[in-house]
Amino acid sequence: MANGGCEAIREDGGGARGPVAVIGAGLTGASWAGLFAAAGLEVRLQDVDAARLDAAAERAAAAARFLAGSGLASAATAERGAAALTATDDLAAAVAGVRHVQEGVREDLALKRLVFAEIAKAAPPDAVICTSSSGLSISDIQTAAAHPERCLAAHPYNPPHLVPLVELAPGALTAPEALERAFTFYAAVGKEPVKLTRDIPGYLANRLSAALWREAVDLVLRGVATVEDVDKAVSSGPGLRWAAMGPHLLYDLGGGTEGIVGHVEHLATVKEGMLRDLATWTEFPPETGPALDAGLAEEKGARTYDELVAERDALLVAYLRARRDRRA
Ligand SMILES: NC(=O)c1ccc[n+]([C@@H]2O[C@H](COP(=O)([O-])OP(=O)(O)OC[C@H]3O[C@@H](n4cnc5c(N)ncnc54)[C@H](O)[C@@H]3O)[C@@H](O)[C@H]2O)c1
Repeated sequence: MANGGCEAIREDGGGARGPVAVIGAGLTGASWAGLFAAAGLEVRLQDVDAARLDAAAERAAAAARFLAGSGLASAATAERGAAALTATDDLAAAVAGVRHVQEGVREDLALKRLVFAEIAKAAPPDAVICTSSSGLSISDIQTAAAHPERCLAAHPYNPPHLVPLVELAPGALTAPEALERAFTFYAAVGKEPVKLTRDIPGYLANRLSAALWREAVDLVLRGVATVEDVDKAVSSGPGLRWAAMGPHLLYDLGGGTEGIVGHVEHLATVKEGMLRDLATWTEFPPETGPALDAGLAEEKGARTYDELVAERDALLVAYLRARRDRRA
């Protein structure tokens, strides 16, 4: 590790040389740019909306400095990356000579296809091109690009500069080598990449979140508990454990010496009885929004949006630092 092993964000994306481009300077794009800058990479941030670019570049530099200030990146490296970050509305100039492109434009298939075609035309033929898309299929996007085998999905969990997960999913035409190169790149900038064998709606994390959230909504709508208590039941209970280990490993531990096989055998009846009682709807009941809103007003109290974001991020930073120290 180039920075002496004391930071979570590492330098230089896998040792390969060359700049990286982030296409689309919205919420997600600016955060990606901040992460890459914190790793000391030369980042080019592009957006068609020139009026947004200055503020987006400032947000990206602020994200890099936040990581350094939080002890999650080397201050000197993040400062170098922040100073080297450039913003442009010229896509061809942004991707010329890059080794990696992170696309983060608006969620619209026709737009993504257009942007992938333009990127592929102007980027080096061996540059890996990744979409941040949450809900579109990379198989549908990549056919618009020259050399579609170097295109894949690299789906972040927001904010990408802070939450380590990135889900890598190949499309029908993606070469295994492109997935491997992307894996190496993200791991080297401090992300925690996971690989899917194919591209399915919601990847892994959003599917798991959706399954949990449907039940969380249902418990509120059925009047079983308040919004605040359902939230506490996650964040003060299993959520804490899930931050340490995933459900499979935790249940394996829960099975004691018999491990997961014992756990499944002993608890199958109990769990199956509960599973039969879980929500199965696939359309949100119309009262969902107002019911959650009323409960959230109580849960938030006087805390503003900015205060809540700061509280969330401070706890995330504290956890990430603890995890880094534990693994060092
Ligand atoms: N917001 C999230 O929580 C989240 C999480 C994970 C992934 N994503 C994905 O990231 C992508 C971007 O989402 P967002 O929330 O950052 O959106 P956003 O609206 O904040 O930003 C989109 C940006 O794309 C720009 N854009 C539009 N057309 C363009 C073009 N032709 N070339 C360059 N830039 C163009 C817009 O000007 C805007 O700045 C989406 O695909 C979304 O699914 C979002």
